[in-house]
Amino acid sequence: MAQITINNKQIDVPDGTTVLRAAEMAGIHIPRLCEHKELTPYGGCRLCIVEVQGVRVPMASCTLPVNNGMVINTETEAIKKSRKFILSMLFSERNHFCPFCQVSGGDCELQNAAYAEEMTHWPIQPGWNDFPVDTSHPYFVLDNNRCILCRRCVRACSEMAGNFTLSVAERGAKSMIVADTDIPLGESTCIKCGSCVQVCPTGALIDRTSAYQGHDEQMTEVKSVCAGCSVGCSIKIMVRDNRIVRIEGDWDGPVNHGALCEHGRYDAVTESRKRITSPMVKKNGKLEPVSWDEALNTVKEKLQALNGDKHGVAGLASTRLPAETLAAFNDLFKGKFQSDLVTSIEEGVPTAAVAKYAEGHENFEGKIDALRTADAVMCIGANLQTSHMVAGFQFKRNLTKGTRLINIDPEESGLDDLANIVIKPKAGTDLALIRGLQAIIAKEGLERSSLKIKDADKIIKNAVAETDISLEKLTQAARLLANAISPVILYGKGVTAQRDAQIVEALHQLAVQIGAEDSERNGLLSLKGESNSQTATLLGLDQPFSLNGHKVTYLAIGDDYVSKSLVERAVKSAYLVVQASYESKLTENADVLLPVTLWAEQEGHYINLDGRIRKAEKAITAPENVRDNLDVLTDLAKRMNLSLDTDWQKAIRGRKSSVALN
Ligand code: FES
Repeated sequence: MAQITINNKQIDVPDGTTVLRAAEMAGIHIPRLCEHKELTPYGGCRLCIVEVQGVRVPMASCTLPVNNGMVINTETEAIKKSRKFILSMLFSERNHFCPFCQVSGGDCELQNAAYAEEMTHWPIQPGWNDFPVDTSHPYFVLDNNRCILCRRCVRACSEMAGNFTLSVAERGAKSMIVADTDIPLGESTCIKCGSCVQVCPTGALIDRTSAYQGHDEQMTEVKSVCAGCSVGCSIKIMVRDNRIVRIEGDWDGPVNHGALCEHGRYDAVTESRKRITSPMVKKNGKLEPVSWDEALNTVKEKLQALNGDKHGVAGLASTRLPAETLAAFNDLFKGKFQSDLVTSIEEGVPTAAVAKYAEGHENFEGKIDALRTADAVMCIGANLQTSHMVAGFQFKRNLTKGTRLINIDPEESGLDDLANIVIKPKAGTDLALIRGLQAIIAKEGLERSSLKIKDADKIIKNAVAETDISLEKLTQAARLLANAISPVILYGKGVTAQRDAQIVEALHQLAVQIGAEDSERNGLLSLKGESNSQTATLLGLDQPFSLNGHKVTYLAIGDDYVSKSLVERAVKSAYLVVQASYESKLTENADVLLPVTLWAEQEGHYINLDGRIRKAEKAITAPENVRDNLDVLTDLAKRMNLSLDTDWQKAIRGRKSSVALN
């Protein structure tokens, strides 16, 4: 610990703390622009200067570590004067005539910093270069004329998303933010996560989906959880006039720490599907709008005679629905109706094999945080460039700092270019591959925890033959994994779609063997699927959707997308009830259509891929005549004199979980 004095206030702070952070701990605010709590201190803008006793010149507090006995002043006349001068320089270097800038008037950190110093003008004659404005990107605009070269965007691109697209070209006054080798942003390697826009302190990076739609103070901020995938990122939904204007990553989010992917940030604001706004019943071969009473009574008439008939009603629910709704759905159709086919839209593809193995090995999977500190990651059957992207960010950002990546996928994957070792085994040979890695590690005596392996040579030979991967490459991968200090194994749908618990068992054994799973840490994790994938599996909603003479099919799709394959199977139903938010090929074929809320119009709990149970909040009100997903199921049950079990917490604990729930 170091004892320091800031503005005559004495405090003790841990060694290594920067003066800026120490001041915050003492409740003293130091103005800053390039500094950001999720980014490495850079010390570029100099606005955070302070006086340190015994030091001749002002020091940038964001990069200055504390020293025992340090005496600091943040508000001397000289410092205030210097701050104004720094701001004047920043304003005069580029075109900061604010009236046309969308962040002007409250959302610009540069402008706000000037107002805080009571500046009404800047005395330095502006003399700037004109920079081109890059409008090639679908979601944002890059305007170097408004840039203060704080490099927050460059650091966010590399340190948050691990993408390294943005950098600075040229020198001095001509310095500008560029994408890749100075190509249009829209044609670059940008993965459209928008982290750069979220950290930009000025209007240099403008979010085109929300530009000029109001300042933050005119919006309501609702903290919630993203319903996009099972990573479960914390988000801030910015709402104005009952409309989602923008979605931002929540800096306090325990999983994402402010980062979001393209889907989480932009899908809701670019949604183009058509809403269903009235209940409908098919009459004379055509769907016609009816009252809720008529629609629910029509479903009741069809359903109530089937109570207790296991081939009566088949049910399928979206894994984007809250846990409360999934549990009620399960209780209604599996519990009360005793149906033999009640499942989820994922049909257990990302979770069934994992859940099966968990029956004998509860909590065998770890936490996503292990990825942040991993020095080696083996990704198998998981394309993190297209889904669960924020999980990928956790280690991609460290690839330039020495973290090594083994990517195993028979298909082309965005991770291939980043990986140290790329393995493309023949499809369906994962088990042989993993056992081959185990045998090589055991044979070379590299294991941390011994695995009894008989006939290692035979297993290795078999792995080479089945996978079509050379012994040399398998050995390279095995050594990399076994020699890592904090390895992590991440597996996805490419593995779990085989529905083979033996592969999960082999991965678990490999994790133990290389020390990825020991008493200190647990570095084995599956990606799961959508936002409530784990909940659905805990409720047992993970069997294939295979109709077998069922008389009615009830699909609670919510705001989910339906695959062509599901539509093809569902339209063969004898009678089809669809509970959905948007029109689709599926809803066209429904006999009864029930319009329901989408994710932001309802509240409820979600369990993410590493077992965190969190509540998503309602941010906007649904259109008139659209009802809450849970409310519809409860009403329907009531009409059939059934009362649904509301204890979803108990329901999800009926099955052993692959991850500890907390
Ligand atoms: Fe410290 Fe910019 S905030 S130099």
